[in-house]
Amino acid sequence: MGEVFYITTPIYYVNDVPHIGTAYTTLAADVIARYQRLRGREVFFLTGTDEHGQKVALAAAERNQSPQAWADEMVTHFEENWRLLNISNNDFIRTTQNRHTQVAQLFIEKLKESGDVYLGSYEGWYCVHDEAFLLSSQLAEGNCPECGRPVDWVKEENYFFRMSKYADAVLKHIEDNPEFVQPETRRNEVVSFIKSGLSDQSISRTSFSWGIPLPFDPRHVMYVWFDALLNYISAIDFGSDTERFERTWPADWHLVGKEILRFHAVIWPAMLMAAGLPLPKRVFAHGWLTVEGQKMSKSLGNVVRPAEIVDEYGVDAYRYYFMREFSFGIDGNFSRRTILRRYNAELANDLGNLESRVLTMVHKYRGGLVPEPGTPGEEETVLAERCEALTAVVEEKLAAPAFNDALAEIWEFVHAVNRYVDVSAPWALAKDDSLAADLDRVLYNSLEGLRQIALFIAPFMPQTAEKVWERLGLPDIWSARIPASSAWGALPTGGATTRAEALFPRKMEGAEDS
Ligand code: MSP
Repeated sequence: MGEVFYITTPIYYVNDVPHIGTAYTTLAADVIARYQRLRGREVFFLTGTDEHGQKVALAAAERNQSPQAWADEMVTHFEENWRLLNISNNDFIRTTQNRHTQVAQLFIEKLKESGDVYLGSYEGWYCVHDEAFLLSSQLAEGNCPECGRPVDWVKEENYFFRMSKYADAVLKHIEDNPEFVQPETRRNEVVSFIKSGLSDQSISRTSFSWGIPLPFDPRHVMYVWFDALLNYISAIDFGSDTERFERTWPADWHLVGKEILRFHAVIWPAMLMAAGLPLPKRVFAHGWLTVEGQKMSKSLGNVVRPAEIVDEYGVDAYRYYFMREFSFGIDGNFSRRTILRRYNAELANDLGNLESRVLTMVHKYRGGLVPEPGTPGEEETVLAERCEALTAVVEEKLAAPAFNDALAEIWEFVHAVNRYVDVSAPWALAKDDSLAADLDRVLYNSLEGLRQIALFIAPFMPQTAEKVWERLGLPDIWSARIPASSAWGALPTGGATTRAEALFPRKMEGAEDS
């Protein structure tokens, strides 16, 4: 079971187009997916859209459109944004697709038959923005505790999922498997939430119709979260292709934002237990991003769309910044000043200059051809050892996942290669013909340093890694494997390198003072 490395993002509501917050989860998942592919794993990386529910129905109604037409239009923005950000998802699921509705109906039918779904009546609060049923005791000054918006009083006949029956088992699973819900602070919140008592979960609605009809009672549509969580198994053919399902399930990682952890760490495991399915290996909740110190909101007019940043800095600088600046498990603040600083210092200067000066020297002194490595001296041995150690460190940091620390370590290596070039001073060696073999060795190892850097940054900055790889005369970076292709000295000699435009042209500073 579960031979495939399976990673998911939440599926996004189509009531809005993506912003840097929604793109954050998707980007993080992409980095892990790309890294695992380079490690030789077969990866299934899933993202998609959550298209049912009251919130989407209302957004469509405001525009006098049918919810389906609205969803069809909105989904193109997600696809476009993920293309722009170079996201390598293997599939894109929409909850209005037939393959999904069929599985959702099959699943709920199964639970109805086993007695875990029953008809009752719900009376209580509902937050449309968060699509969440709330108890009076959960409200914050009468409003939704999560988003602060006013809540609606709902009184309906509903089907319920017997979640209370699974409370102890879910709690035990979380406590026995510390890696299941992360980070730890969030796990503690989930544990106290379960300990405070779980009631059965309302899982259908009758007061509107934009949802999946219950097969045994079509007056009801499925509660949007019950429907949405099932995307993780409908996309891998639960109920129709058992072989595929079993190779892929359970998911290795569900990446989610902190506000939706409860759905993934409580309701979802209970649903899976009720269906007799294994639980995902890990649910990781990341923090929220603010913009220049403020919560992003349409009313404040400070919502930042990925294209604004990509247009200015390019896709890889975007990806680098979001993965380097923030610690994944906690909240972070996006600021235009820090992106500009990091761009100039770390991308244009540290990485860009290294690449251009090494390739320039190889062209100037060796006609662009990769020279012989010769016998490694002290400096080369140290560099090779650092590189080998880095392979293990990056593996560990990405398992955490601590993207920012992984990049900080990779940059230590970029600095080390820069220092290697400085202390070896190939420009001085070039002045003396009797030192030709030394010059070959230094140029070879500098190029090898660049090759290693390209591999390390590939999951984070795929386009830049491809460019560096190509400029080194190498065929296809995505067929490389870590660690096999990352052993020091794997760069073939005699290959033709190319000099080309700067990877990250420097930008003027001082214009931004926010
Ligand atoms: N549709 C549900 C998820 C169902 S999964 C079975 C949903 N969608 S969402 O569009 O509202 O948000 C999805 C993701 O975007 C969440 O992981 C959320 O944390 C993330 N973000 C939305 N705004 C964010 C920030 N400002 N910062 C970081 N991530 C944020 O919830």
